Amino acid sequence: MKSDGIAVIPVVTIDGPSGAGKGTVASLVADAKGWHLLDSGALYRIIAVAGLAKGIDLADEASLVALSEQLDIVFADGKVTVDGADLTDGIRTEEAGNSASQVAALPPVRGAILTLQQSFRKAPGLVADGRDMGTVVFPDAPVKVFLDASAEARAERRYNQLKNKGLGVNLRALLEQIQERDARDRNRAVAPLKPAEDALIIDSTHMSIDEVVATVIAQLSIK
Ligand code: DC
Repeated sequence: MKSDGIAVIPVVTIDGPSGAGKGTVASLVADAKGWHLLDSGALYRIIAVAGLAKGIDLADEASLVALSEQLDIVFADGKVTVDGADLTDGIRTEEAGNSASQVAALPPVRGAILTLQQSFRKAPGLVADGRDMGTVVFPDAPVKVFLDASAEARAERRYNQLKNKGLGVNLRALLEQIQERDARDRNRAVAPLKPAEDALIIDSTHMSIDEVVATVIAQLSIK
């Protein structure tokens, strides 16, 4: 690690496919350490949802870049506010996730929010959750985790989450959506979903959230 400026602020990166439990693990690790949290997927979801609301085509790179530079995004008290409107629930739908995956495949959009993401690196530390946190956004992070789980386990977790919220869902359709999103995220030309060379790969298929959190925190004490 460099000894000057921002690079001395520790970062834990948690990358992996949709539904592996990254969000929950990242938030629990951040709470346990008293560190900041970056939910980078939320940024892509916000750009997609705000873009659609303004009638922007999700393939229109120039308009999406311009939009991402204008949006006033505030994460506070577990809520996401964009230009004053509460989008906390609006960005969490399956549709928003699929739209986010399309927007995230556009290199200029990824470039447009790189500095914004890096600005979350503040003392005493940051837990960053996404797909390219360890490979692109924070390549010097001292602890990198790639959290994986089988597509079937991830679809089943999502199914239970949605069912508990009282939403009617179809497990097979969820599995297909997850596989489709994985394929798009893993095969895109820029910043594809893949473990950093120095990442610890954790397969959470048969692990509880608490076991995963303990494994990540143990890594922090080793480094
Ligand atoms: O983690 P999530 O489901 O909220 O992410 C939504 C989409 O955004 C996902 O399909 C991939 C994309 N994404 C990305 O490409 N890079 C990130 N760092 C985070 C998310």
